[in-house]
Amino acid sequence: MAKSESNTMWGGRFASGQDTLMESLNASIGFDQRLSIQDIRGSISHASMLRETGIISKSDADIIIAGLKKIQLEIESGDFKFSVKLEDIHMNIEARLKELIGEAAGRLHTARSRNDQVTTDTKLWVREQIDELMKTIRLLQQQLIISAESKADWVMPGFTHLQTAQPVTWGHHMMAYVEMFERDYLRFYDARIRLNESPLGAAALAGTSFPIDRQHTSDSLGFDRPTANSLDSVSDRDFALEFLSVASICAMHLSRFCEEIIIWSSAQFGFVSLSDEFSTGSSIMPQKKNPDSAELIRAKVGRIFGSNVALMMVMKGLPLAFNKDMQEDKEQVFDASDNLSISLNVMVKIIQTMQVNREALEEAASSGFSTATDLADWLVRELNLPFRKAHHITGEIVKICELKGCSLSSLTLEDMQNIEPRITKSVFNVLSVQNSVSSRSSLGGTAPEQVIKQVLRWKKILNEEII
Ligand code: ARG
Repeated sequence: MAKSESNTMWGGRFASGQDTLMESLNASIGFDQRLSIQDIRGSISHASMLRETGIISKSDADIIIAGLKKIQLEIESGDFKFSVKLEDIHMNIEARLKELIGEAAGRLHTARSRNDQVTTDTKLWVREQIDELMKTIRLLQQQLIISAESKADWVMPGFTHLQTAQPVTWGHHMMAYVEMFERDYLRFYDARIRLNESPLGAAALAGTSFPIDRQHTSDSLGFDRPTANSLDSVSDRDFALEFLSVASICAMHLSRFCEEIIIWSSAQFGFVSLSDEFSTGSSIMPQKKNPDSAELIRAKVGRIFGSNVALMMVMKGLPLAFNKDMQEDKEQVFDASDNLSISLNVMVKIIQTMQVNREALEEAASSGFSTATDLADWLVRELNLPFRKAHHITGEIVKICELKGCSLSSLTLEDMQNIEPRITKSVFNVLSVQNSVSSRSSLGGTAPEQVIKQVLRWKKILNEEII
């Protein structure tokens, strides 16, 4: 077998190059080229630190930085040729730098290793994604708040076990998701704080004998501080795992919401109708309008959580410090981030363009004896019955409704008095769904008055953030 030439970056001790199969297994350039901009940013920061500390000459540093900027333009314009032979983004860029500026390019890697380099690049990439995702979560919350405010008093059935439980308001339901997405927002915020320490300068694993200034690179890359332990710095992928687990929880929330939208948009429910832009038709059944957008978002949690599990399994049992296994982190992070991003962005539009059918909501809210708890509460309040007793009496009244095939509010007073003679006609006040929701005005309850309070609180929070 003809032996290829050994690698120009690290091949000094090698007599031959790699088998082509090994090349394919080993190369990450197919995916880590997405780190180009972060890699160049990290290298410029490193070169300027080497210059400030006098580790390399000013003239070498300046041509290195100018060369890196040129490479950035080549990458941005699509003129850069990525090569599998050069394994990864770090070596592709360094090799191009050498073509452009000659031997001085070899000084850039002083006091640095690809191990601290790749962790730095990936952290910078994840940090940018977190910032974008947090912005999109805010957009989604804004849409939900708009919907909640305009439909604060629209009644709908509230479910437990997907069985009609008690009437709630549309506004209340939308605001539930505002709270859920807020926890995702805060989890991203929190993950960003832990991520934001600079590993650059940890070098291969043990630090370096050169008099580097880690504060300099940390500051210029927008990190809060340099990491404190070089072994930990190059072997840590917690930031990626944390990103993936926060992304998984957020995707799970989207999935639950989408499941509701899918149910609500069925002919049997008819609560909502998705806009044409976010639906598809069937190639055989002309009447169909399918909620594909919501179904796909419902599914995304599968791959996003899959990425979380995959990387957790990659990291499990790895000894300190860097191991090549860790190269497997990036595809998971990229895929999860892309899919969460598109899901959130589509969700914003789904909410914005969805039609809500007030009559269908109201009709469903009144069915299924949804005000039975209100009747039991009335018996407790007005007749001073213990709740358990009131619960039992209400159950008997519901049984009569079932026999007669009517709702609680259309039962006669006489029917009710046959079960409990002290019931008066004022009971009918609590049997309407409107009165039911208005009465639930406890803090965080479904009453329109409470929903509006929450809407106003949220608007204030979001406005203050913009200012
Ligand atoms: N391509 C590698 C990665 O993505 C870069 C680090 C390689 N380091 C090494 N010592 N081989 O993780």
